[in-house]
Amino acid sequence: SDIEKGTYPHYMLKEIDEQPPVMRKIIQRYQDDQGELTIDQPILDAMNASDRIYIIAAGTSYHAGLVGKQFIEKMAKIPVEVHISSEFVYNMPMLSEKPLFIFISQSGETADSRAVLVEVKEMGHKAITITNVPGSTLSREANYTLLLHAGPEIAVASTKAYTAQLAVLSILAAVTGKSRGHELNFNLVQELGIVANAMEVLCDEKEEFERIAREFLSTTRNAFFIGRSLDFYVGLEGALKLKEISYIQAEGFAGGELKHGTIALIEEGTPVIALSTQEYVNLSIRGNVKEVVARGANPCIISMEGLNSEGDSFVIPEVNPILTPLIAVIPLQLISYYAALHRDCDVDKPRNLAKSVTVE
Ligand code: G6P
Repeated sequence: SDIEKGTYPHYMLKEIDEQPPVMRKIIQRYQDDQGELTIDQPILDAMNASDRIYIIAAGTSYHAGLVGKQFIEKMAKIPVEVHISSEFVYNMPMLSEKPLFIFISQSGETADSRAVLVEVKEMGHKAITITNVPGSTLSREANYTLLLHAGPEIAVASTKAYTAQLAVLSILAAVTGKSRGHELNFNLVQELGIVANAMEVLCDEKEEFERIAREFLSTTRNAFFIGRSLDFYVGLEGALKLKEISYIQAEGFAGGELKHGTIALIEEGTPVIALSTQEYVNLSIRGNVKEVVARGANPCIISMEGLNSEGDSFVIPEVNPILTPLIAVIPLQLISYYAALHRDCDVDKPRNLAKSVTVE
């Protein structure tokens, strides 16, 4: 069945490998009879009636929300704010006149997110929940639900739910945009298909990621992830994956912020994993790599085909520039997985963590 490990040593590895079929399933589930991407009309109406969208989430789902903001603002042209659910209640921003809330939650059970949903519903606002679990609390309590169709995710470290969240957010953004007269200049069905194929290529490169994990992460105390623009958000998720399962102290940050503090932490041999998938920041991020190398860092550059340079540790296949987070995260998931294995950590059940946190 879906929730057996089969021949896999860990659920996490199985779930990483499931990402290409999950992409294809999402494309299929969000297509109409004509093969056009589609979102239920009441959800589109709610999107179009709002003057500002508030994405609320925790953990990996929050990282998906950061990318989702870019999708919605660029494709649908509606302003978006992204908030950590546990903070939202204390630091509630001034809401716009017609706010719409989007809750992103793999489990649909995160108590911190539910607390926000209860509050904004009391205020009379509408909410969409993007979740993997039909009938979950957040799904039942929101006005509308968009399902991830990722199948059960068992490993504590979220992998396939993240990429599924990104795919569903891209579809929501594109279809909403189209309904507002903003047609994409590419075919999203086709581009997500290319993403699925690229994911497959990456999942076939496990030995490479095991080697990278051994070389950079088997004995280190800490590690840094740097990126700019969309790569920054993927780096945040990469750092979270690494700390969750390998207990390496990891931090993701924006390349431009290096000089404002974190560069003080770079020592001889400190691993710095740099992402470069966006042409307009390629030179700047490579400049950041030079800065850390000059201070002794051990750089691991993961770049996209077409932007790669000699000496890069890994080159990911080319996909549509706005969709790169869907594939750039896969090397980071696999590197974290192998780092945890090399360090004898319990990959599927890391210490102190729960799959869904149902207490505030
Ligand atoms: C827990 C899990 C994380 C997850 C977060 C949010 O902390 O360990 O992997 O990202 O909850 O969960 P949700 O189900 O709301 O996406």
